[in-house]
Amino acid sequence: MAKMWAGRTEGLLDKDADDFNSSVSFDKRMYKEDIAGSKAHAAMLAACGIISGEDAKKITEGLNGILKDIESGALLIENAEDVHMFIEEQLTARIGEAGKKLHTARSRNDQVALDLRLYLRNRCGEISALIKALLTVIKDKAEEYKTAIMPGYTHLQRAQPVTFAHHLLAYAEMFKRDAGRIKDAVSRMNYSPLGCCALAGTTYNIDRQMTAAALGFSGVTANSIDGVSDRDFCVELLAAFSLIMTHLSRFSEEIILWTSWEFKFAELSDAFTTGSSIMPQKKNSDMAELVRGKAGRVYGDLMGTLTMLKGLPLAYNKDMQEDKEAVFDGAETVIKCLKVFAPMAASLRANTENMRAAAGKGFINATDLADYLTKKGIPFRTAYKIVGGIVAKCIKENKTLEDLSLEEYRAESTAFDKDLYESIDLLNCVERRISEGGAGSASVNKQLAALGEFIADEKNFY
Ligand code: ARG
Repeated sequence: MAKMWAGRTEGLLDKDADDFNSSVSFDKRMYKEDIAGSKAHAAMLAACGIISGEDAKKITEGLNGILKDIESGALLIENAEDVHMFIEEQLTARIGEAGKKLHTARSRNDQVALDLRLYLRNRCGEISALIKALLTVIKDKAEEYKTAIMPGYTHLQRAQPVTFAHHLLAYAEMFKRDAGRIKDAVSRMNYSPLGCCALAGTTYNIDRQMTAAALGFSGVTANSIDGVSDRDFCVELLAAFSLIMTHLSRFSEEIILWTSWEFKFAELSDAFTTGSSIMPQKKNSDMAELVRGKAGRVYGDLMGTLTMLKGLPLAYNKDMQEDKEAVFDGAETVIKCLKVFAPMAASLRANTENMRAAAGKGFINATDLADYLTKKGIPFRTAYKIVGGIVAKCIKENKTLEDLSLEEYRAESTAFDKDLYESIDLLNCVERRISEGGAGSASVNKQLAALGEFIADEKNFY
């Protein structure tokens, strides 16, 4: 079939080249945004006296019909170069001459830049709502496990006691920042490129502010060349998506560890685990593993997009068609992961006894013992040395710090008194972490209250 763009050229495109050039199989996702953009454009053209009101009405009705037929499944988006051409061809087939006027004072270059922004804005709305849902799950879990003592780790070695609530709330901070990054990226993306046309603007006296306002943009892009060649918003969003995936992946990794036989800190509901086809005893955390695995593809989407852009001269180049699969995949992967991760996390039940038992081994109260001595007037470095010796003795004798008698302690330092046992009691150890943001319950309660306020405030989400 002859192309709509067949102006100078006469020959037909080679079949493989035609397929290669076509983006409709993936950019058909943007049909709603393309139609919304075209309706706004037609209304503006009429308001500015560039087309007649009657033509604008025909265009709008034609586009409404196309939208309805796509949504009902009566019209399949296929056999076209891209979604923009498909809809314009459909429109002209349906309404005739008026359809041919829609593309006045517009190019596919500003059209695609517009559609992509609108589309991503919608997806960001979904992602923000999913982040909010996950934050609510984390908040509820943290409330539930406010007194569950567990070992906090560094180097995956037991380090200091914390509560499961405090540990979970660390993830809340990450997802709060993610919500902020999405909102921030959208605020920079939310300028309309419509009217930049091919690259230089147009000779028609169009009203870009009018289409921008109709489509919910904060304003218009200031330079027409930038308007059609900028894909920073794809990169920014993919970077934000990548970080969401990093956070989900780290969380997944911990869930995988916690639900292993080695840790036995937690269990997931059967709804989010799978069995093995051969080993009847298995309960695998496949969902968490998939989330962890999918982080890689989103990073790939980001790197691919950055690399695609880096050598492009201004303004539009067809390389930029490659932005779509990457950013669609990034957004869709994040959405899929968040959709399964939040209810999976909600199903997590902690085995608080095992957590507590693990915290009882591994000398995670050794820092507290050193602090005890320091508070009795011994310099921290000296205290650290004394306690190091005590830990070595315990390991040799297969004992915990709690097992040693006061005499044994006093043999190491006369500063020890019987109140030392209180200082190494795990609950006390956690409670004494009174510094701002620390593991103590006052801090945890404060974090929970702040998280509640964050979730309740619409301003924190796009
Ligand atoms: N399908 C194209 C894309 O995604 C639309 C823009 C085409 N513009 C052009 N000058 N060929 O980038």
